[in-house]
Formats: sequence, C-alpha cells, structure tokens
Amino acid sequence: MRDPDLTVTVSGIRLRTPLILASGCCGYGKEMERIEGWDWSAVGAVVLKGITLEPRLGHPPHRVAEVASGMINSIGLQNVGLAGLVQLINEELHCLPVPLIANVAGRTVEEYQKICDGLKKAPSLAAVELNISSPNIRGGGIEFGRDPEMAAQVVQACKEVWTKPLWVKLSPEPDRMVAIAQACVEAGADALTLCNTFPALTLNSQSLFPRPILSMGFGGLSGPAIKPIILRKAFLVCRWLREQSLRTPVIGSGGVWTGRDVLEYLAVGCHSVQLGTVLFADPLAPQRIARELKDYIKKVVAATGQEQWLNVESFRGVAMKELSECVGGPVG
Ligand SMILES: Cc1cc2nc3c(=O)[nH]c(=O)nc-3n(C[C@H](O)[C@H](O)[C@H](O)COP(=O)(O)O)c2cc1C
Repeated sequence: MRDPDLTVTVSGIRLRTPLILASGCCGYGKEMERIEGWDWSAVGAVVLKGITLEPRLGHPPHRVAEVASGMINSIGLQNVGLAGLVQLINEELHCLPVPLIANVAGRTVEEYQKICDGLKKAPSLAAVELNISSPNIRGGGIEFGRDPEMAAQVVQACKEVWTKPLWVKLSPEPDRMVAIAQACVEAGADALTLCNTFPALTLNSQSLFPRPILSMGFGGLSGPAIKPIILRKAFLVCRWLREQSLRTPVIGSGGVWTGRDVLEYLAVGCHSVQLGTVLFADPLAPQRIARELKDYIKKVVAATGQEQWLNVESFRGVAMKELSECVGGPVG
C-alpha cells in the first residue's frame, strides 16, 4: 500500500498536511524549534501571533487559566506590532520551511487596511488571516465579527491592498454565523477560519471566597470543550457554501487534539484544521496527529480495498449528506 497522502490545498496554497499551527499558540513559529524533538514535517502552515499597528504589551498576569477540557486566556494581543513583524519575517521567519500566515487585528477598517498594506513589505508571507473575532481587547476586531455589514467592510478594504489569499477568522459567538460567513465570502474572503475562542469566565474557588483568576476577569475559552460547538458551526457554513456551489475553503479551529478530530472537521466539509490549545499540552502534537491520520487512512483502505481513500482530501464532506438528512436536516 502507498503511504497515505496528507497534502491539501487551501486558497491555492499547497500544505503538506492539513495541520496548521493556530495564531497565538506557537509564538512567531520559530519558538517551536526550541522544543526537543520538534520538526516541521507534519506542519502544513503556521499562523503567526496576531499583530496590531503598534506593539502591545498585553494584559498583566494572570493571563491563562486551565478549566475542565480547555483553557481560558486573556493575553490581550501582546505583539511586536506591524513594523516589528515585518522585520522579524524578513530577517528570520522567511527561513521557516512552511507557508507563513500573518494574523491581523485592528480598531478600525482603516487600521486593518494599513496593516495589510504594510505586510506587503514581507514578501515571504503566503496569506493574511484577518482576526475579526478576538474577545480579549477592545479593538481586537470582535465588533466587526458580530455584524455582517461591518465584516464585509473590513474584508473589502483589505482586499483592495492585499492581493495574496485573504483568510477571515470568525467569532463563534453570533447566531448569525452563516450570514457573517456569507458577507465575508461576498466581500472577497479566500478562506474562512472557524472559529476564535468563546468569551468565558473562571473563578478561583480555592480561596475563602471565589475570586477572579485572570487580571481581566473574562477571557476566551479554547480546547476540547469547544470542539462540538465549532464542529456544528463549521458544518452549517460548509453546507451553505455547498448549496451556493461556492468553493471557499473552511479551516476548522476549535479543540483539535487527535487524528479523529481532524477527520471530523474534514467530514463536515472543512479543508484543513488549526492546532491551538493542544500545542500547550503536547507541543509535538503535529507529528502525533499526522501519524494517527495515516494509521486511520490505512485502516480505511484495508477495510474497503479502495485506494481512493489514500488521499486525506477524499474525506472532505463524507458526513455531509447523512447529516443533512438527519430528521430533515439539523436545526440551523
Ligand atoms: C493563548 C492563546 C492566544 C491566542 N491568540 C490569538 C491571536 O492572536 N489571534 C487569533 O486570531 N486567535 C488567537 N487565539 C485563538 C486560537 O488561534 C484558536 O483559534 C482557538 O484557541 C481555538 O482553537 P483551539 O481550541 O485548538 O485552541 C489564541 C488562543 C490562545 C489559547
């Protein structure tokens, strides 16, 4: 049997696996090389820590807290700013052996546009991912991610200046997720990342009276706790795209921990996934998950005798038909 082929294509960018490192969970990529045993062979692409126009220190500690099946963070978009990132990419990151994606947050449409324009000075970038969904700071873009018209304005403005693929990362919050996805696609988004973290709260109940843990009180929930919710949202958006005969790729981001999780996101129609919180618990997760995916694919080929399953892309959408038929289709 041939070795399973994990390559996928997202907005014209060929990835050697569907495993993309999620923004904020791998620094600027290079930090991962400090981990003993790290290698890039299982990584499809890396989304760099979100940047703003000017550098930010982020929030004071505590900025992360562990909760059942996940974590809550309120980093506050600590980052080196536009000029700092351009310099970092041109001096160091351009050598990384995977496509680099910049993640961008702004307070106004003009600010998003200015950052995208400035990123043209880093020619090794493969794409930009617009973060219109950060729950942790005012000006993290979530105001844009809650309203279809505002989302469309940001996407349109950035398309005017950024000619390479433009991904848009949505918030999991709004009920109108499909309407917001539609607005982004119509405004020219080349891919949708679903989703960012959920606004959440945790308290320290070990103290005499329960008290906030995070300096900001609230934070964003990520990890396995959110996977079933994001999976449903990913399905709804993928189903809508299919109904419209649109080919915009969807990238699942929420609680991916194992090869099975990747397959579930592919089965509802996603093109690839992002690995976020898992990198804190298991920094070598990309290699493990790629191994698990290959083992699973070999099992399917052995059971069916059909070599078509050797390419991971063939699993895209395999659950869509049955899901759509469930009691007249799942409640959207
Ligand atoms: C510590 C931390 C920092 C993050 N920073 C960013 C960021 O700068 N930009 C962004 O778009 N998403 C950011 N995210 C969201 C992740 O990229 C990812 O979409 C989210 O955590 C859901 O995936 P997961 O459950 O696999 O972690 C951050 C998440 C965490 C946990």
